[in-house]
Amino acid sequence: MRTRLLKSSAENIAEAAALIRAGQVVAFPTETVYGLGANALDADAVARVFAAKGRPADNPLIVHVASAEDAAPLCHWTQDAQALAQAFWPGPLTMLLRKRGIVPEITTAGLQTVAVRVPRHALALALINASGCPIAAPSANRSGRPSPTSAAHVLEDMSGRIPLILDGGSSAVGVESTVLDMSGGMPTILRPGAVTCEHIAMVLGKCRVADSVMRPVLPGEDAPSPGMRHKHYAPMAKMTLVKGEAGNVAKYITTRYDKHAHAAILAFEDHVPLYGGRRTESLGSNAMDAAHRLFYLLRDMDLKGVTRIYAETLPEDGLGLAVMNRMSRAAGFDLVNADNDLEGEHE
Ligand code: TXA
Ligand code: MG
Repeated sequence: MRTRLLKSSAENIAEAAALIRAGQVVAFPTETVYGLGANALDADAVARVFAAKGRPADNPLIVHVASAEDAAPLCHWTQDAQALAQAFWPGPLTMLLRKRGIVPEITTAGLQTVAVRVPRHALALALINASGCPIAAPSANRSGRPSPTSAAHVLEDMSGRIPLILDGGSSAVGVESTVLDMSGGMPTILRPGAVTCEHIAMVLGKCRVADSVMRPVLPGEDAPSPGMRHKHYAPMAKMTLVKGEAGNVAKYITTRYDKHAHAAILAFEDHVPLYGGRRTESLGSNAMDAAHRLFYLLRDMDLKGVTRIYAETLPEDGLGLAVMNRMSRAAGFDLVNADNDLEGEHE
């Protein structure tokens, strides 16, 4: 199958929508990352998404709709859901609610909840409206790879596997949406994103972050969100996160860096000079920059044959929690404290 890459135009959106209506798979931009979409109510179409992505069948998809009115028929809509939709949709918030029978089992991987969200992206909304159906879409990467934040990244992973990619430029946010479980008494964040626990608590008066967000799911443990069980965001290189005072971090990293032929460093802009001309990629100046660049950098280091990555960390608050969640998973939770371990043996 030849994969075509098309720019945003009324004609191209109509063509993509016709493919969706015909049960095919189309990649499209959202404000977070690119999605791999199909008609969420057509089990055969959704099966093609799982196949193109190489996704395990036990990992459910997010259903993208154009408005809260379109989400309500798919699930048992609640007052709290309505309040959050009013505050954050369109936007990077996915809500898990009890599903209705209209949503096929394959879309939710057999779970009794369905994930719904309205993306904040004109092209995505135009595609959903032109298709006339809700669109089930995971991130448009091959399973296990970093999520794509540009059409070129989608092509890297999906060339020959899907008929069409709509190109909407680079993703504004750069990390995936917040996944919020609304099916129990306490709204619980299963995956942190740009809509934070503080934002949700401002609307509902309560919210918690699941323990599983910043640690690996243990063997035999039931993951609250199936996606947490699977290996994620992994670059080919082995990656280590190094926290601590900036000078200690730089000393720790440079000593180890020098023992590897193909190492790279991820550092915040202000700290780049501390690495003395070694291969250093800037995470920018804050969590927003880091979110925007992280997946691009992980893919770029794969392309450049980097085999060892040392990365600085950032505070786990606001969007920083989402960035640290993705970086920790990319590093297989290998995190060291340079303040304690300057003379350590850690490679
Ligand atoms: O920003 C995003 O959310 C992007 C764009 C394309 O919208 N989509 C995305 O989808 O990241 P995906 O499939 O890569 O991640 C969805 C996550 C997975 O970890 C999945 O396990 C979880 O949401 N999820 C989906 N439905 C669920 C459900 N019913 N119960 C628990 N977790 C669910
Ligand atoms: Mg994904």
